[in-house]
Amino acid sequence: MRQATVYIDSEALQYNLNRVKQLAPTAKIVSMVKANAYGHGVKDCLAALAATDAFGVACLQEALEIRELGHQQPITLIEGVFSADEMQSVIDNNIEVLVHHHVQVEWLLAHKQQYIAKGLKVWVKLNSGMNRLGFKVPEIIDIIQMLKAEGFSCVLAMHFANADADHHPLNEQQKAQFLQVKQACDPIMASCCNSAAIFKWPELNFDFVRPGIMLYGASPFVDRSAHDLDIQPVMTFTAEIIALNHIQAGESVGYGSTFVAEQAMDIAIVSIGYGDGYPRAFQKQNYVSIQGQMTRVIGRVSMDMIAIDVTDLHAPLGTEVELWGKDRLVDDVAIANGTIGYELLCRMSARPLRIKI
Ligand SMILES: Cc1ncc(COP(=O)(O)O)c(C=O)c1O
Repeated sequence: MRQATVYIDSEALQYNLNRVKQLAPTAKIVSMVKANAYGHGVKDCLAALAATDAFGVACLQEALEIRELGHQQPITLIEGVFSADEMQSVIDNNIEVLVHHHVQVEWLLAHKQQYIAKGLKVWVKLNSGMNRLGFKVPEIIDIIQMLKAEGFSCVLAMHFANADADHHPLNEQQKAQFLQVKQACDPIMASCCNSAAIFKWPELNFDFVRPGIMLYGASPFVDRSAHDLDIQPVMTFTAEIIALNHIQAGESVGYGSTFVAEQAMDIAIVSIGYGDGYPRAFQKQNYVSIQGQMTRVIGRVSMDMIAIDVTDLHAPLGTEVELWGKDRLVDDVAIANGTIGYELLCRMSARPLRIKI
């Protein structure tokens, strides 16, 4: 059997959830499990995240999947509903909406009695400069005051555009606007921290934090690794060596013959490729790990195979190769590929075998 495997480490997920608790001890944790738990598989991750206070997802379908799996924690739709007809399902399944647009406020008001009777909170999104979703200041203050007067329990919500950057001027603007609205609408619950903000700004934890990438043990920062942040990689992506070749100086490897050996070398073919979610467009030299020892990927990544340099390595047929995981961090693979760990994790294909450990 082809041995391309994704291992999901439940204990690492629990460890990372505890890290959030250490960093934000007074806030409730809304674990972000959108996009199939950042590609990790929602079913396995929800079980491991049983101690979370709530879940955050991008759409009703993702929320219903959580309910179908039997989890009862509050769920927030971080983009709200996409059409009026989703409101009834939201209420029937105890799902909380965010509102970022007037039309969503109208849909919510049309279901006011039922929504409030279920004890559901409404999240109201501030656009403080990211300019994706939300109401600007001062309009948001009127909307929140109106919703409160109608009897809704509101959470002021905001998302940072540059929480991963140390000195971006927009950070101060976003913080100032958030605090201004919070004060003007006092008392109101508040939530603005993603993973990077949880690490950087403990004073902004407020009522709810919304960790995503840190739960999965990848870093939100380019200059701080998972090890630096004391979080543990949850996904380990491996495959096996299925062929060994000895090649001479001047011989090439793979499609396009982009790699040409400068001297005689041993290469191994590993049964993994872009058909499994392994990235093809490397901008820098990429590596894999064989029992903690890094070795380079050579030539082009094919749909089902890659070639690696095993000169001077003990790597017989059947050797397990780590593409990313605890030794070769997904963030480092992402840097070599000109992307971020988030993308590599989320676009993991359904093809590899999945094993929860
Ligand atoms: C609104 C919102 N909150 C929180 C998060 C979690 O962010 P991160 O994965 O960087 O922790 C996201 C992710 O995109 C988001 O869109």
